[in-house]
This record gives sequence, C-alpha cells and structure tokens, in this order.
Amino acid sequence: MTKELVFATNNQHKLEEVSAMLGQDIKLLSLKDINCLEDIPETADTLEGNALLKARYVKKNYGFDCFADDTGLEVEALNNAPGVYSARYAGEAHDFEANMQKLLTEMQGKENRMARFRTVIALILDGRESLFEGIVDGSIITGRRGAAGFGYDPLFVPKGYTETFAELGNNIKNSISHRALAVQKLTAFLSTLSSKA
Ligand code: IMP
Repeated sequence: MTKELVFATNNQHKLEEVSAMLGQDIKLLSLKDINCLEDIPETADTLEGNALLKARYVKKNYGFDCFADDTGLEVEALNNAPGVYSARYAGEAHDFEANMQKLLTEMQGKENRMARFRTVIALILDGRESLFEGIVDGSIITGRRGAAGFGYDPLFVPKGYTETFAELGNNIKNSISHRALAVQKLTAFLSTLSSKA
C-alpha cells in the first residue's frame, strides 16, 4: 500500500531528488501540498534539534508522518562554525556570496583547512522518532572555483577529489553528498519497514 509522507520542505530540487530515491511505495508530499504555508521555526542550536523541530511541527499541527532535514558546514579551524548557522553566517539575508566572503575572511592565515558538510534528517513515523546522518569530509580552498550547485559549493573540495562541489557538478555531487548519504540511510530504513508490512 502506498504511504503518504511529508518532506518538510518547499525546495523543489530536494523534493525531486528524494522522491526519486524513495521509490513507489511512498508518496512524498511537500509543505505546500499539505497547505503549510508559514515559516516553521528553526530556533535550535544543533542540526538535530532543528530537524526535529520541523518534523514535530508538521506532526503536531498537520497530523502527517513527516521527515525534515537540516545541513551545516562544519569547519575544524573555526570550532565547527558556521554549522547550524550556515544559512545566515553573514546575516539574516541568507546571501550565499556574503556567506562565502565571510568564510574566506575567517579562514585567512589558517593552515588547517579541514571541513565537513553534515546533514541530519529527522523522521517521525508511526509515533516513533529516528535520526539519520550523512557526512562528507573535505577542505576549504582559498578562493571560489566553479559555477554549479549552491551555498558554499565553490569553496568546498570533497576528500578524494581535486575539484570543488561547484566544479564537479550536480550529478557527481548528488551521488556523494552529505544529503545523499543521509537520504540513503532514510530510504534503507523505510524499505526495511515496507518489506515487513
Ligand atoms: P539547509 O539545511 O539545506 O537549508 O542548508 C543550510 C545552509 O547550509 C544553506 O543555506 C547553505 O548555505 C548550506 N548548505 C547546505 N547544503 C549545502 C550544499 O550541498 N552545498 C553548499 N552549501 C550547502
């Protein structure tokens, strides 16, 4: 039987990517599909906290089983900043260019360039909460390279590669990314449930 599950996002790109990975047993709904048009508060100080806040908000106010994601760039030399504040690192405008500029400035003179992207997905299903994590290790370069992707992609070289996420392009990025790894764990979990049903 097809099960309805809300993905607490209106990002069409994320919806399509995840929907393709989930297969036919799950009908994925967006926030718009359930008429949730307000901004869901993301006031926690961890990725786990924010992902849970969003999933719980949907369950409580709309009654749907749901999952939500939150992602951050964690830079070792900056004590894991910007982390949960990645979207608003340079201010509430959520400006990718300004965020990258701030990161480059903060990293000036730092020898340790190690960083990682971390995605956490929180799932609420049949009254139970579960968390799934995806991590990609890499490093921060000293100037932007590449035009694909979004966010900090022009500054991040994943481990084992010489090009940035923005140079590698979406196909390669989406096959190795933090988000893809977290979604793979989610889909593996959901498929064990549907094979038991
Ligand atoms: P979100 O939780 O997916 O909305 O991500 C929060 C912020 O992290 C975004 O606004 C970006 O600045 C950054 N970010 C998330 N995922 C990526 C990515 O795949 N590449 C580059 N930056 C990202």
